[in-house]
Amino acid sequence: MDKLIVHGGPTLRGTINISGSKNASLPILAASLLTADDCIIRRVPDVSDTNYMIQILSALGADVERSSGTVRITSADIMDEAPYELVRRMRASICVMGPLLARNGRCVVSLPGGCVIGDRPVDLHLRGLEALGAKIEFEGGNITLTAKDGLRGAEIDLRGTHGPTVLGTDNVMMAATLAEGITVIESAAAEPEVLDLANFLNAMGAKITGAGTRRIVIEGVKELHGVEHTVIPDRIEAGTFMAAAAIAGENVTLRRVCRDHLKAITAAIEASGHQVDFNEDGDICTVRRSEGKTHGVNLVTAPFPGYPTDMQAQMTALLATTPGISVIKDTIFPQRFMHCAELKRMGADIRVDNGTAVVHGVARLSAAPVMASDLRASAALVLAALTAKGSTEISRLYHIDRGYEQIDEKLLMLGANVERVKDH
Ligand code: EPZ
Repeated sequence: MDKLIVHGGPTLRGTINISGSKNASLPILAASLLTADDCIIRRVPDVSDTNYMIQILSALGADVERSSGTVRITSADIMDEAPYELVRRMRASICVMGPLLARNGRCVVSLPGGCVIGDRPVDLHLRGLEALGAKIEFEGGNITLTAKDGLRGAEIDLRGTHGPTVLGTDNVMMAATLAEGITVIESAAAEPEVLDLANFLNAMGAKITGAGTRRIVIEGVKELHGVEHTVIPDRIEAGTFMAAAAIAGENVTLRRVCRDHLKAITAAIEASGHQVDFNEDGDICTVRRSEGKTHGVNLVTAPFPGYPTDMQAQMTALLATTPGISVIKDTIFPQRFMHCAELKRMGADIRVDNGTAVVHGVARLSAAPVMASDLRASAALVLAALTAKGSTEISRLYHIDRGYEQIDEKLLMLGANVERVKDH
């Protein structure tokens, strides 16, 4: 296992390119199962989560070829059963359910395990697929869905106690593309990644309107054809580097971003006193750290277009050394505060209670050996270490490699002093 050693102190400056979105790539890779034609998908980030998905597609019988960021997938003859060994390693593999069911009329997927950010139920996915006519059975940790007579359109409300479900919306939308008749999804997730998937499906010949809003309408078609598509920029990677610039930057420029996807993140970073500027096209942004005029903020995560839960840990790292008191509430994953215990080992003053963290900014953190626990918590530890006194060792780096493409290379390009070492 690798670990990252971050030597605190250097000021970040310069320019990097943001990669394609991991969370757009995963459902889009799965959607290629809906046709026997070639699908060419560009700017797929080379991270372990997308590699897991590619392994799952190959295990299902798809022919997959990857050259740098471009993936070609041809799903001529597809099996029904996703391999347990692979599916259990990544929650997002659940999004093969909808395409497999629509394509084959049957699928077997293992129930995803929980993870440190909280219980990861799939009841909303199943509510939607059952409404489309799927028969659902549970056995030995697997879910088996069958629809011998095909799927039929339905009116479905996907709202859950913690708001809409992103992958649940994706699964139902993908299944509905080949269902007979019209499907309406109420309380749909409106994340940019859902819209990117809908654009991919429509390019395949699907008839989807309303994606990106809470109400999506899908008119079923007989079949879908091959497509070429470039995934949207990764708004969470962009947000992570915006927070890094606010923590340790002088000024940092990020290319290949999308301003419309970053409004809530931009507002939070500006609210704490730092400066964010976009070019006219909104695809390049520069973040300038402000000395002196910074202060704590109150933050509540919410479904898009609200403040993203995937950026909660990174903002907590920034606020840990921002003068004043900040209150951060995660309404989507109330347990998503594993990073706080590690930040406290570095000297942060944070109290977590019932889905809310109260942060008193301190002057400076100090290095300590810390352990990554999940993807975004690990990113938060890297950010905190950039200006901490001394050298911070972050172990279990595989968590970060799940969702950040060459994060150490990109930090080095900005002048950070980081090194990836083998952890014996
Ligand atoms: C997606 O996960 C993202 N992953 C997550 O990003 C992100 O945190 C999450 O959406 C919320 O924005 C991908 O896109 C691959 P949900 P997803 O279904 O779809 C509850 C990262 O860091 N719920 O939108 O699995 C659930 O418990 C990852 O890149 C049910 O109750 O999340 C949560 O409280 C982490 N029943 C809320 O809904 C269900 O059937 C939102 O979950 C499904 C979800």
